[in-house]
Amino acid sequence: MSGSQPGTRPGTLTGIGVGPGDPELLTLKAVRLLNAVDVLAYPANQDGDSLARAIAAPHLLAGLPEISLPMAFKPGQSPEHPAYDKGAKAIAEHLEAGRDVAFLCEGDPLFYGSFIYVLERLGNRFPMRVVPGVASPMACAALAQRPLVAGDEPLAILPATADDATLDTALSAVRAAVVMKLGRHLPRVAAALKRAGLAEGATVVVRGGLEGERILPLPQALVEGVPYFSLLLARKDPL
Ligand SMILES: C[S@@+](CC[C@H](N)C(=O)[O-])C[C@H]1O[C@@H](n2cnc3c(N)ncnc32)[C@H](O)[C@@H]1O
Repeated sequence: MSGSQPGTRPGTLTGIGVGPGDPELLTLKAVRLLNAVDVLAYPANQDGDSLARAIAAPHLLAGLPEISLPMAFKPGQSPEHPAYDKGAKAIAEHLEAGRDVAFLCEGDPLFYGSFIYVLERLGNRFPMRVVPGVASPMACAALAQRPLVAGDEPLAILPATADDATLDTALSAVRAAVVMKLGRHLPRVAAALKRAGLAEGATVVVRGGLEGERILPLPQALVEGVPYFSLLLARKDPL
């Protein structure tokens, strides 16, 4: 294994999904491993606030060294951004010294998660494992008490940042869809859903499981506007 100091066994990096907001949605495995690592790392915004850490807070041991990485704070931030290199370097220093590091990730680490960019940078240098988390489409469908898909229905999961042609192609091929990262893109997404016959009965979940949670019918969401941290659930023949 490259990357470790001579004579030192490298630490293991564990990407831990902490679920979409409700601290009771961490898995037993996530909680067990959080209590067994030497260092906590997590993405944070420019002010140092970390949603992933806040979700996991009730389960964290006091006094653990923490590294807050200003990484996943800008919607659409390119994976080549130097912040990811800087974050990966800080994590690598702990791993090289033999310390196990948990990287907390909101939702699931490999589903639009910032852990992906850490994995890309460090995955071939250090022992690595991933603990899946409850992803937001599942959690938001549960909150809205709406089926995502049933039987042989295909499901499209799309970022609202996709261009119109991509939205149209994907939405026209399915009977059910989840659109993530809404924010200012909602009106454009609503128009695409309408073209695909999926707008009727669509629901937007804002900050599911978090302070400020709201579950809105699409027309109301369009009037009020929604933040980036919201997703839309749509299906033909909504139940
Ligand atoms: C960068 S992605 C992270 C996805 C996350 N890794 C997951 O497994 O759900 C951020 C997007 O996930 C969605 N999202 C994540 N958590 C959410 C929540 N609690 N309520 C509503 N949408 C959420 C929103 O669409 C948001 O723009």
